[in-house]
Amino acid sequence: MKVGMSLTAWVLRQQSMHPGARGQLSTLLTHVSLAARMIAHEVSQAPLTGLVGHAGATNVQGEEQAKLDIVADELFLDAMGTSDLVSTMVSEEREEPEYVSDHSGQGHYTIFYDPLDGSSNIDVNVTVGSIFGIYRQRPNDRGRLTDLFRPGREQVAAGYVMYGASTILVLATEDSKVQGFTLQSEIGEFFLTHPDMQMPEVGKSYSCNQSRQPHWSDAMVAVARRFRDDDVGGEKRTARYVGSLIADFHRTLIKGGIFMYPGEREKPEGKLRLMYEAAPLAFLAEKAGGGAHDGKVRILDKVATKLHERTPLFIGSRVDVEDAFARLNG
Ligand code: AHG
Ligand code: MN
Ligand code: MN
Repeated sequence: MKVGMSLTAWVLRQQSMHPGARGQLSTLLTHVSLAARMIAHEVSQAPLTGLVGHAGATNVQGEEQAKLDIVADELFLDAMGTSDLVSTMVSEEREEPEYVSDHSGQGHYTIFYDPLDGSSNIDVNVTVGSIFGIYRQRPNDRGRLTDLFRPGREQVAAGYVMYGASTILVLATEDSKVQGFTLQSEIGEFFLTHPDMQMPEVGKSYSCNQSRQPHWSDAMVAVARRFRDDDVGGEKRTARYVGSLIADFHRTLIKGGIFMYPGEREKPEGKLRLMYEAAPLAFLAEKAGGGAHDGKVRILDKVATKLHERTPLFIGSRVDVEDAFARLNG
């Protein structure tokens, strides 16, 4: 099979389209690639190196940290920190932001990341991933906490790495479509295997944790039942739920459908985090012709008031997310 261009070649071609570009975002994306390759190695070896199970600590989310959560977090921070282009990094695994430079120059970036998504699947060898969202520093940003609270539509790049049967890096920049690159691990380079990804208008599957139904609103119960029982957009659906957001999203991106993690009566804000789970994936979903909302508001328009703010998430094919929106607000 003729393999597509390498990630490095794609990044440099993107840069060449901007004559004035200084190559900073290009350099940053190569550091994302480095982080992806280092974490992919640790994930693949985890059962052999003992990096399975819990570390015995809980994170700011009040969730037990897996050993790989901590290792992936440190690798991602190190790989991005050495780029000398990042001013601030916000991790799911760290309560406070990490300020990795002195804000002296311009062109610095802020990165929100979930170093290991789907941690509950590590010990059962099911696909896990990393998610990242990148914002360009604004001239008046001074490393204040409030400087970090920006709508997802201001991301200059976002993506995820999927550590599955293959290691796939899916990303988009502010002026590109969604591109998927697969790691050729022997030579340590990603190659374009999924160019210009577009999400089907309607879906093949609906994806939600049905065991949460007792906690849903009546409107949400009706939405899930519609995707289960009715032809939506002329398509009969099947239920699919991996329990790793990036795996459920990647399937939705390729085959279409909808992923839903709604708010609940006791937890109206839901479980997933806005800045490093929902916003980066919403950036990709919209670039691929799909959509993402929280049941009421477009994800990319939401502005957090807390670093680790949670949000309900409905994301996927345009027809499906619009259908869910109409029913939730009917
Ligand atoms: P993380 O491992 O980064 O905490 O994320 C887990 C998230 C997400 O990956 C997945 O969609 C969701 O948790 C699954 O939640 P439930 O187990 O409640 O369905
Ligand atoms: Mn996650
Ligand atoms: Mn995580």
